[in-house]
Amino acid sequence: MTIRIEPLNRAHRPLLTDFQNPHSSLAEYLRRFAWRHAEKDLLARTYVVIDAGIDPPRLAGYFSLTTVSVERDAVAPLPALDRLPRFPIPGILLARLAVDTRVRGQGLGRYLFEEALGLTLQLAHAGPVTFRLLVTDAIDVEARSFYAHFGCQPLSETFPCRMFLDLRPLL
Ligand SMILES: CC(C)(COP(=O)(O)OP(=O)(O)OC[C@H]1O[C@@H](n2cnc3c(N)ncnc32)[C@H](O)[C@@H]1OP(=O)(O)O)[C@@H](O)C(=O)NCCC(=O)NCCS
Repeated sequence: MTIRIEPLNRAHRPLLTDFQNPHSSLAEYLRRFAWRHAEKDLLARTYVVIDAGIDPPRLAGYFSLTTVSVERDAVAPLPALDRLPRFPIPGILLARLAVDTRVRGQGLGRYLFEEALGLTLQLAHAGPVTFRLLVTDAIDVEARSFYAHFGCQPLSETFPCRMFLDLRPLL
């Protein structure tokens, strides 16, 4: 695959309808909301991976980032965060991540996760703000195990789909 990653923009619109994923909500988000949420509503920014090695080029995967604030009690049992004040803990939310069914199992999911983490670390390290967590919202049990593969842990037993990675050791 010859790929490039770009923030979603108007020029990608013709590629959005062809995206295929077993979770129809992930294809629908891209088709209907991703551009609007980034450009008009300012709710989340989506990054798309374009497979430019085929003709016509295809949108092979994407992820969306936004901000999040985690209630201090939700991370209470985690020793690494024990000494933090009782305020909510700020973070970046990896709200969605998906790979087109036709290119699954070829390393693109890892590439997307690592790009999302890389952007997050860059911002936390040298951006105008800093924050402690990368939080992920897993869509189902399989997605939970995907994020666990990259070191994410469930925030609580009550909401096992919301997971997090402590950025402190990575910075
Ligand atoms: C989950 C998903 C993103 C994986 O994409 P992919 O391109 O097939 O994954 P990759 O080929 O890059 O696999 C990356 C690594 O994750 C592992 N992996 C993939 N799916 C996994 C799963 N469900 N559980 C545990 N590990 C998984 C792979 O074994 C691989 O490990 P390695 O790099 O250490 O060898 C893709 O299947 C998808 O779009 N699923 C539906 C949506 C979804 O679940 N999104 C995630 C969060 S909402």
